[in-house]
Amino acid sequence: MSVTSTQIELAARPVGDPKHSDFKIVKVELPEIKEGEMLCRIIYQSLDPYMRGRMDDAKSYAVPVAIGSVMEAGCVAEVMESKNARFQTGDIVNGRFGWRTHIISDGAGVRKVNKDIAPISTSIGILGMPGMTAYVGLLDIGEPKEGETVVVSAASGAVGAVVGQIAKIKGCKVIGVAGSTEKCEYVRDELGFDECISHYNEDLAMQLSNVCPNGIDVYFENVGGKVFEAVLPLLNAFARIPLCGLISRYSHVGEFPGPNLLPTLTRSILTNRLKIQGYIITERWNRFPEFEKDVSAWIDSGKLKYKEDFVDGIEQAPEAFMGLLKGKNFGKLIVRTSEDPTL
Ligand SMILES: NC(=O)c1ccc[n+]([C@@H]2O[C@H](COP(=O)([O-])OP(=O)(O)OC[C@H]3O[C@@H](n4cnc5c(N)ncnc54)[C@H](OP(=O)(O)O)[C@@H]3O)[C@@H](O)[C@H]2O)c1
Repeated sequence: MSVTSTQIELAARPVGDPKHSDFKIVKVELPEIKEGEMLCRIIYQSLDPYMRGRMDDAKSYAVPVAIGSVMEAGCVAEVMESKNARFQTGDIVNGRFGWRTHIISDGAGVRKVNKDIAPISTSIGILGMPGMTAYVGLLDIGEPKEGETVVVSAASGAVGAVVGQIAKIKGCKVIGVAGSTEKCEYVRDELGFDECISHYNEDLAMQLSNVCPNGIDVYFENVGGKVFEAVLPLLNAFARIPLCGLISRYSHVGEFPGPNLLPTLTRSILTNRLKIQGYIITERWNRFPEFEKDVSAWIDSGKLKYKEDFVDGIEQAPEAFMGLLKGKNFGKLIVRTSEDPTL
């Protein structure tokens, strides 16, 4: 079968915020598949904040994307043709296929998606990497207990929305921090958080202290910067902080402006016996079976809700990704690259 794939490559390393010229749209004629391979048509492609880090040539937990290489992404795809014994034509699969419309895969790291649990797009959202990040970070590092106060930043997003709802399931009081009024209302009124405060508020620290009269036991950190600064004085003894992400810093260039809060932070770590733990979800994938069982059941029973923000066409991926880093997405951001045969 002869197929042309449209793919998006990294053209240049961004300085600060990414721009269109950092990406290049390329068309590639794919060869016939060989024994052990399969041809996949990508249906949904995930856009995630970590991709900003992959664009930099800096020391990190992952290797950067090379200039001229296809941007990385988790995807949901349909197998169009297969010479791989594990997969048949028509299978819906999840794999790290990248920013492209078609790919020839040898099946490594690819798993079949169960079409019966939920829409297949959720396998890159609430039932995939972001959902796992929320589940593992909150339960294994945050260890929330009934009656405790949990604060989560980027609360309307792919990870934060799941964190807060699981914390509610565990009997906690949950406060979200998000951007726009619309996002804050969604988090409180649709997702059932107890409160949600906008990080655009001048008096964020005061508002947070008003809604957390008993202090904070778990702070789920997605953002960095001023939200953490507002949380810090409110942390209780033995508070836990899953350090999941620092999106407000990803495109920052140069030194961070003062004041230097390191002495305050280290004093709080000592006197409050804080646990602050960074983690990378790919290193905790052993938790996937339990995660999938619990989260599927919670979705099924209506205890967990999710919102997806679709963008149509691979060519729109750079613009949508740049928007993600500015809070323009509302829910899990997904590029729809072709028709979903399960709908
Ligand atoms: N450790 C891991 O393995 C792992 C895995 C997945 C994700 N993460 C991290 O988890 C975090 C959330 O990811 P996600 O997929 O759920 O993204 P998301 O929340 O769906 O989208 C990102 C959101 O971050 C908020 N944001 C962007 N810039 C901000 C700023 N300067 N200050 C405050 N908020 C800002 C925006 O929401 P508002 O409009 O509400 O501000 C934006 O919508 C990210 O930091 C990501 O890197 C980590």
